[in-house]
Amino acid sequence: MQATQQYIQQNRERFLAELLDWLRIPSVSADPKFKGDVQRMAEAVADQLRATGAENVEVCPTAGHPIVYGEKLISPELPTVLVYGHYDVQPADPLELWESGPFEPVIKKTELHPDGAIFARGSCDDKGQVFMHIKAFEAMSANSELPCNVKFMIEGEEEVGSVNLGKYCEANKDKLKCDVVLISDTSIIANDVPSVTVGLRGLSYVEVEVTGPNRDLHSGIYGGAVANPVNVLCDMISSLHDENRHIAIPGFYDDVEIISEAERAEMSKAPHNEAAYKTALNIGDTMGEAGFTTHERTSIRPTLDVNGIWGGYIGEGAKTVLPAKAFAKISMRLVPHQHPDKITELFAKHFQSIAPPSVSVEVRPHHGGFPVVTPTDTPEYQAAHKAMEATFGKAPIPMREGGSIPIVALFESVLGVKSVLMGFGLNSDAIHSPNEHYGLFNFYKGIETIPHFFSHYAVLKSK
Ligand code: BES
Ligand code: MN
Ligand code: MN
Repeated sequence: MQATQQYIQQNRERFLAELLDWLRIPSVSADPKFKGDVQRMAEAVADQLRATGAENVEVCPTAGHPIVYGEKLISPELPTVLVYGHYDVQPADPLELWESGPFEPVIKKTELHPDGAIFARGSCDDKGQVFMHIKAFEAMSANSELPCNVKFMIEGEEEVGSVNLGKYCEANKDKLKCDVVLISDTSIIANDVPSVTVGLRGLSYVEVEVTGPNRDLHSGIYGGAVANPVNVLCDMISSLHDENRHIAIPGFYDDVEIISEAERAEMSKAPHNEAAYKTALNIGDTMGEAGFTTHERTSIRPTLDVNGIWGGYIGEGAKTVLPAKAFAKISMRLVPHQHPDKITELFAKHFQSIAPPSVSVEVRPHHGGFPVVTPTDTPEYQAAHKAMEATFGKAPIPMREGGSIPIVALFESVLGVKSVLMGFGLNSDAIHSPNEHYGLFNFYKGIETIPHFFSHYAVLKSK
């Protein structure tokens, strides 16, 4: 792998310039306004795959945004790694909070990224991390040092629930046949504290609509006698947590995996500086479920959060109105053994039951996803461990994370394969937020580490 590593060093500047070209394409999957850009982005991924030596490259149309596929199959004797990632990004709003254009990448130094970071939507989540895989592949291919067969499947709908990718997997089981899925779409603890992700939370996402009177009313004439849906929605939402920040939906915790004290003690060894955490977010204190640490609250425990709430008059000045309707978008992050459909069902039933007769309530489910836990006694985990150990100079810590990648559970149930979650972002990289960025250190470290994964995996898998 020496030639591969040397090639990476010699082509650093070009790799970065090419990534910046990707980041200029506003591939926002949620907003139909960007449909053409999302298509253009899919073509750009396909172009990179072709240029770096992948074969049978296709931009596969779906009912939504395309899936980009490519492969390099060198020998049926060798294991096959399926690289999954996404080229779509979250909307950039609120635009006014960006210090530079979300699709005009710039490199700036930060406290955590003294060597510089690329500021752009998708730099970390997930274009920058997908790009590392293509460049690692280019380096291995160009030097005839590819130790495994590779398949790439890069989708354009991860940020909107991967619905069409699920169907694509069902329909293409043979084509996608592989020994493991390799994904870089998660975080490490810090640039000097490497980690491999071994768990992701699941998700149940609902929208609620509370309706009161049949029209907006004068809040003086009717206020006090007729239920205000915004007031009622706030009451209902606040009743969803008790005084211990425990979720008060009957049955919500029934299936929650109980983690042994020994395992919790092991998890607590991952470094966490509560004071620095608070300072970085400019909060006076953290808040969460009683009896659990910050890291536990964001990994092994389920949550319920309002993601958006609206209703009534929000324009300039004051308008005295008792609104007819109120709305909220609510997400629940789930942990092992919780079933997203069951949780959605429990939520809907409970939310209906707590509505006073003065309003009516509708609950509309959005996308969901199962949580995942990946084992550590597998060739793929060990390969990721050894790869990171080689490039970071210290052993990575296995760590469960709070975010969700719903398709990972499907890879297991539909394709029958496990995934390895070897991401290189930092939780402070502001993914989904204004000023998202990705460290140059992280970008290059990823490109260097991936070939190590491939060579260790080839050896460990054949044992
Ligand atoms: N890459 C993230 C998930 C992630 C980030 C996991 C950091 C662990 C650490 C992914 O793109 C994402 O944002 N997923 C969504 C779910 C999806 C259904 C919209 C999420 O977690 O909100
Ligand atoms: Mn992602
Ligand atoms: Mn994301």
